[in-house]
Amino acid sequence: KQHFSSSIHVASPTSNATSESADIDWDNLGFGFMPTDYMYVMKCSQGENFSEGQLLRFGNIELNPSAGILNYGQGLFEGLKAYRKHDRNILLFRPEENAMRLRMGAERMCMPSPTVEQFVEAVRETVLANEKWIPPPGKGSMYIRPLLMGSGAVLGLAPAPEYTFLIYVSPVGNYFKEGLAPINLVVETEMHRATPGGTGGVKTIGNYAAEGAFCVRRSKKWLLIHCESAEYGDSCSSFRSVRIAEISLGPSARLWLVLKAQSAAKAKGYSDVLYLDSVHKRFLEEVSSCNVFVVKGNVISTPAIKGTILPGITRKSIIDVARSQGFQVEERMVPVEELLDADEVFCTGTAVVISPVGSITYIGKRVSYGSSGVGLVSQQLYSALTRLQMGLTEDTMDWILEL
Ligand code: COI
Repeated sequence: KQHFSSSIHVASPTSNATSESADIDWDNLGFGFMPTDYMYVMKCSQGENFSEGQLLRFGNIELNPSAGILNYGQGLFEGLKAYRKHDRNILLFRPEENAMRLRMGAERMCMPSPTVEQFVEAVRETVLANEKWIPPPGKGSMYIRPLLMGSGAVLGLAPAPEYTFLIYVSPVGNYFKEGLAPINLVVETEMHRATPGGTGGVKTIGNYAAEGAFCVRRSKKWLLIHCESAEYGDSCSSFRSVRIAEISLGPSARLWLVLKAQSAAKAKGYSDVLYLDSVHKRFLEEVSSCNVFVVKGNVISTPAIKGTILPGITRKSIIDVARSQGFQVEERMVPVEELLDADEVFCTGTAVVISPVGSITYIGKRVSYGSSGVGLVSQQLYSALTRLQMGLTEDTMDWILEL
């Protein structure tokens, strides 16, 4: 059986329930990890159901080196946010949607998963126990990161014998260093994020690994650097902690470059990469960490969910918000050429919320949108969504859970 290190103490779920704010610089939050007080942990064996979890002091976890998650990537994650309202109440945005998506992913990854009720209750307890880390209204949000992993030991390829559901939280501000200013994307024409039949449509941990790793060339070797503490846009020298593995530069070196897509783009000054489908190499898929929308007149188009892109909860919400505001929303295959004469492009995701796109570069050709900053449609949808999430407008969709 796996266990957690002895430095972690079982905590009383209410021991930290204080409405005092943590003493941090709320005006300068980015999207970096900041440890908080408690994490939630629940375990079960293969073939069983999750039954009871507990809040533990936040800290490192101990895993058998043979754990399924470490060896075969049997793991999923989720992301959702809690907002502090002006009346000091706490709001969660559609947590049951995350619970259902986790359950769907768990089925694909042969893992047991918490019920929707267990998931939402665990999120609620974790947020309340860490309440002082929720940014004041207008200063950001608390990012909630649920993980589901095969924590039991396996050697041959098989589902792990034991599973851990864990939630930790961290106060966050804007995801992109640009803040709400438009970001600049580059269309990735050689590397692909997902393939039909793969796991691109579920939130597996492995889908994202390539996007957070950096490859640099040092003398005649390539170094694959995993950054444990990097902000977007940081240079390698500013990482607080790196783990380095050497790989030889052989004939298949170009394949390794898939690990480099995002960092290569950043090195050239782009904010992120926009992926195309791997079959036709022509249709939009998603950006490394978010879904994408293209606006032309009153029509807003976004790639259809067909197994290779993530069914984003912000994506789904924006589709409903846009339709309720009179836009025609089309979920379909969107050819990359449509970027060339779009009025606006924006990205959606829990972490990024809505991020307007200022330019997209496709095979050396740069198209700009919204000459004077954020496009009107992006601004209108951003405002409608965030006002709802922060409790500033009436929740007519019944999307908000007030704690
Ligand atoms: C989120 O938006 O919550 C995600 O999970 C994307 C992640 C890369 C930050």
